[in-house]
Amino acid sequence: MRFLITGATGALGGAVIETMLKRIPPDSIAVLTRNEEKRLAFQARGLPAYQGDFDDISSLEKAMKEVDTVLLISAGDEGDRMRQLRNVVDAAKRVGVSGIAYTSRSLRDPDSLSNALMADHFATEDYIRDSGLRYTIFRNALYMDVIPLFVGKQVFETGIIQSAGMGKVAFALRKEMGEAIANVMLDEGCENKTYKFTGDSAYSFDDIASALTDLSGKEVNYTPVESAAFETILINKGLPVAMAGKIIDFNADIRNGQESEVTADLARALGRPPASLKEGLKILFGL
Ligand SMILES: NC(=O)c1ccc[n+]([C@@H]2O[C@H](COP(=O)([O-])OP(=O)(O)OC[C@H]3O[C@@H](n4cnc5c(N)ncnc54)[C@H](OP(=O)(O)O)[C@@H]3O)[C@@H](O)[C@H]2O)c1
Repeated sequence: MRFLITGATGALGGAVIETMLKRIPPDSIAVLTRNEEKRLAFQARGLPAYQGDFDDISSLEKAMKEVDTVLLISAGDEGDRMRQLRNVVDAAKRVGVSGIAYTSRSLRDPDSLSNALMADHFATEDYIRDSGLRYTIFRNALYMDVIPLFVGKQVFETGIIQSAGMGKVAFALRKEMGEAIANVMLDEGCENKTYKFTGDSAYSFDDIASALTDLSGKEVNYTPVESAAFETILINKGLPVAMAGKIIDFNADIRNGQESEVTADLARALGRPPASLKEGLKILFGL
């Protein structure tokens, strides 16, 4: 049984691979990267490592030879992401792998999202289901790891300003979702199932402010503002307009409850409760 992991050099892929390496030999875990140096580093650890790009179909087919199951870790938003994701599914089908797993997002209602970037995930899910390949879909919660990016490193001086209202997010640590993905892939294979990997509770930015206050002993407050006011704040801070727009869209989806669904799937796949907000923030802020 051989797996191919795309996004292997990324944070999520790294967590998947480290978990798999505890249970199966390195030559069962093929990896794909665009970066030759990183490819050589994997190869030195005994993993079949391929240089390849979602834009380069022949590189994908080469990496999938002798592979049973592909884990397609979604790419970022550079380039034509939909075409890239379809290339991987098409290559998997042509090469004849037995199953494909995909990292999507856990959102309540794909049809009423503010963040257009998220639509690609659901279009890719549909493309995979229509491909006839056996599949596993991992709908991941918003990474708890992004909280420092949202609130900023100066949070203990500035407090938190966002336009998410009192909307809640079922944050989970990226490392734990990677571990859970590896466990499902090793224990269950592709059984045409969809998992929603979320934390055990959902938290607002107000909850984050309280948790940071308790952990640091410094008072952190959350000030919710309207989208337009927040956009002005972000642009005045020097953020490019497009980036500010993405942050506003994330906040709108949070405010509208898109990110708040809690399931037990992650706890089940980990065999323990996932990290709580306070446990995660302790790690992420070094508190
Ligand atoms: N749930 C969430 O909150 C959340 C947050 C952020 C992102 N995401 C999604 O989850 C994915 C994984 O997260 P992460 O934190 O592990 O991301 P990451 O650390 O940025 O890693 C991204 C990976 O994508 C690979 N990649 C990018 N473009 C590629 C291409 N054209 N061809 C082949 N590989 C390509 C990179 O590989 P090489 O550079 O080695 O080629 C890298 O390993 C992200 O890409 C994004 O779609 C989810």
